[in-house]
Amino acid sequence: MNDPSPFPLPLSRGFFITGTDTGVGKTHVACLLIESLKKRGLRAAAMKPVAAGTAADGVNEDVRRLMAASNVSAPKELVNPYCFAPAVAPHIAARQTGVTMDLDVIAAAYEELAALADVVVVEGAGGFLVPFNDACGMDAIPVRLGLPVIMVVGLRLGCLNHALLTAEAVEARGLSLAGWVANRVDPDMEMAEENLTSLRSILRPPCLGEIRWQETFPVDLAEGSGLILKALGLA
Ligand SMILES: Nc1ncnc2c1ncn2[C@@H]1O[C@H](COP(=O)(O)OP(=O)(O)O)[C@@H](O)[C@H]1O
Ligand SMILES: [Mg+2]
Repeated sequence: MNDPSPFPLPLSRGFFITGTDTGVGKTHVACLLIESLKKRGLRAAAMKPVAAGTAADGVNEDVRRLMAASNVSAPKELVNPYCFAPAVAPHIAARQTGVTMDLDVIAAAYEELAALADVVVVEGAGGFLVPFNDACGMDAIPVRLGLPVIMVVGLRLGCLNHALLTAEAVEARGLSLAGWVANRVDPDMEMAEENLTSLRSILRPPCLGEIRWQETFPVDLAEGSGLILKALGLA
């Protein structure tokens, strides 16, 4: 490792990235975290256990972005064990295609990735309690993998409730909420600063960084990661 400054999060063999909703910046934050781990000289694998919505080539866009960010070469089947073509709730897509998603499959893929990497960054699908199968929700994934959670808060009207509910649900499952990242997804949000101040004062886990709204998205990660790296004390 070239940079002697300490990593701001207790380093874990993996992190689970959840968010206040779909489209709040989970993939972006996962990629930024991977960038910051790479800058620390670490091998950072990416995982998207469940994805819904594919491009013409059959690949999910999040999976493509995560694999491009990672410096660990791994088969797509390990990075993304479950992928469904329609961009709908994954358990519904699974049911319609006769697939029963199995936590054991995800845990086995995770272990293979973990053997190739120093850290595995795992992105959830949708919000924290999106259903996984008939027995459990996506929250069962970090529980099964034993991963600390990072919550991405998409700063928009309604985010206070969503952030507080998500934080409560994470901790109710005995998981560690390592921190949260504020992502400015709405350039026109009124009282954005005041909302952020409220979150900072109510949420006990630390705010790991704040990502400004970017007109052109996605930004170049090397440049964009500077935003979060700075907040994380790494740049
Ligand atoms: N900081 C930002 N500035 C501008 N647009 C953003 C920002 N973060 C996210 N977005 C927009 O939101 C979309 C969803 O982001 P993404 O990281 O894919 O979220 P998620 O993984 O939670 O679905 C992006 O494709 C982009 O259009
Ligand atoms: Mg995503």
